[in-house]
Parts: sequence; structure tokens; C-alpha cells
Amino acid sequence: MKSTINVSGLLYFLHTILLGCTAEVLQINVQNQGGEVVQETITSNIHDDIITLEFQRTDGTLITQLIDFRSEAQVLKALVLGEEERGQSQYQVMCFVTKFQKGDFITSDAMAKLRQKNPTTIRTPEEDRGKENYTMTGWLVNLDRSSPISRHLSICSEAKDSTYVRDVDLKSWSEIPGSSMSILESSVTSFPHVQSNHQQTSVSRCNEVSGIWAPCICSLELCIGWFPCGLKYCKGKIDNNSINNNQINSSYRCGIKTCRKCSNFSYYVRQKQQCLWDE
Ligand SMILES: *[C@@H]1O[C@H](CO)[C@@H](O)[C@H](O)[C@H]1NC(C)=O
Ligand SMILES: *[C@@H]1O[C@H](CO)[C@@H](O)[C@H](O)[C@H]1NC(C)=O
Ligand SMILES: *[C@@H]1O[C@H](CO)[C@@H](O)[C@H](O)[C@H]1NC(C)=O
Ligand SMILES: *[C@@H]1O[C@H](CO)[C@@H](O)[C@H](O)[C@H]1NC(C)=O
Repeated sequence: MKSTINVSGLLYFLHTILLGCTAEVLQINVQNQGGEVVQETITSNIHDDIITLEFQRTDGTLITQLIDFRSEAQVLKALVLGEEERGQSQYQVMCFVTKFQKGDFITSDAMAKLRQKNPTTIRTPEEDRGKENYTMTGWLVNLDRSSPISRHLSICSEAKDSTYVRDVDLKSWSEIPGSSMSILESSVTSFPHVQSNHQQTSVSRCNEVSGIWAPCICSLELCIGWFPCGLKYCKGKIDNNSINNNQINSSYRCGIKTCRKCSNFSYYVRQKQQCLWDE
């Protein structure tokens, strides 16, 4: 069988059996929209069926994305450096746990098979998936009891009072076998302005609030500048061999499609002090 497939001259799949090795690491140089280059580290773990992607923004913010395929959960973690001269602690950690749609990402198995021909290449994505708004509705306060959402929420252990979820996603996860709305609700505290009947009373946005001790709605935009978001299939031209005699119409994986996507999270903070970037 053929062992490699050239992928747009950039990446290729190694059709090898990974013996005993379940975590694969890929380092990608990505040019962001401001023209700066950041290095993403992508780790795929087939055994746990997760992918993690990590990079440091040029402003110092460390972003970690964890994709858990078992529950279709995405965790976006941001470690934002504090502004010490404004009385902030050295850093703030926030986690946003949301449900993704099937097909938003390639599988951990396909990701583990990606290799780069030239690791120094600077890459830009082919497709811009734009910006999605996420209105968070509560804190995930008990990470230990949240295993129906993901068994990998320990990456948020530094974000005990700043891990956020949405009602609408809890509803989806409550339908997973072994889960229920009562289990999930027992590990979530709704924001004070989010009522049980889903009516929201109004709280001002942080950029409209002047006192730094006042509660407000903060927003934080997190962008993943480059990630494999789909497989490309080509027709025909597959190597002829005695097993497959119908080459002409056969389709095979011949590449990956890459995307960029931003997420704009809005969430309640008890003090504007926790949201000083939103001005
Ligand atoms: C996100 O919210 C902003 C501000 O409310 C709005 O202008 C924009 O159209 C929204 N984007 C999407 C994709 O809904
Ligand atoms: C594929 O290989 C077989 C023999 O292995 C041969 O008979 C056949 O003509 C080949 N088909 C093509 C399309 O080359
Ligand atoms: C291959 O595709 C062509 C055109 O799409 C079609 O006419 C032909 O019947 C197909 N052959 C097979 C063996 O499916
Ligand atoms: C993020 O969403 C909030 C609330 O919808 C909106 O006011 C803000 O303009 C958005 N920020 C960006 C960068 O799109």
C-alpha cells in the first residue's frame, strides 16, 4: 500500500499504524491577521479521542483549545497576563466550555496522521469561518461532577470561578447516556441576571461601566488562526493494485482543508476589574 499522500505540497498523511503511540505532536508556524507569526502546538490523542491546540498570542495571552470528540465539547482557555500597575494579579485564567457541531474539526485519528514536509513553512488558512458570538449563562463550579461534559476539564483547574457554560449546551449534554439535567445543573451556578425562566435582566457591558468594582458583561474574543477543519477528497488516480481494481471512480483522502475562526464570548463578571481589556 502507498504510505504517503502529498497534500497541496504542504502536509501529507502517513498511512502507518501507530504502534503503542497514542499522542502525536505537530508544530505549525501560523501567520495571524496582523502579519505576526505564532507557533501552534497541536497534540492529538487517539486513545482519549481529544485534540489540543496551544499557542501564545503576541500580547502574551496563552490560548489552549481542547476538542473532546466523545461529548463534542470544546474548551477554550485563555491565560491573560494582568496589568500589575492597575492592581491586577499576575494573570487571569478563563475557560469557556461549549458544544461544537459534528464536522467542525477533523477527527483525532486524521489529525494524528498529519505530518509536515517542511516544519519551517509559515502557514495561512484557506477559509475564514468568521466570528461566532457566545453568550454564556453560568459558571461551571464543580469540575469533578462535570464528566458528562468532558473528562478533561482538569485543564480548567486554575479557572475555578471563571469557567463558563451556556444553558443551551447543557441541554444537549444532558441527553448523553449516563447524564441528566439534574447532574449538570448541580455543577453549574447561573449568573445573577439569568433567571430560571431564561429571562435576562439587563446588566451593562463592561465598556459602558465606569467603576472598576461594578458588575458588568465582559466580552473576550479568542481566535484560532489555523486549524485543520475538513478533509479533501480526490477522485481517481489512486495507485493501482490487485486489491482495488476500480480506481477510476474511487475517492481518497488527498488533503486537508484549513480554517481560521474567532469566538466572541460574553459573560458576567462581578467586578469590571476582571475585564480591563474590554474598553
Ligand atoms: C455578533 O455580535 C455583534 C454585536 O452584537 C454583531 O454585530 C454581529 O453581527 C454578531 N455576529 C454574528 C455572527 O451573529
Ligand atoms: C491494474 O492492474 C491490473 C493488474 O494488476 C491490470 O490488469 C489493470 O489493467 C490495471 N488497471 C489500470 C487502470 O491500470
Ligand atoms: C464512473 O463515473 C462515470 C462518470 O461519472 C460513470 O459514467 C461510470 O459509470 C462510472 N463507472 C463506475 C464503474 O462506476
Ligand atoms: C462581542 O459581543 C458583544 C455582545 O454581543 C458585542 O457587544 C461586542 O461588540 C462583540 N465584540 C466583537 C469584537 O465582536
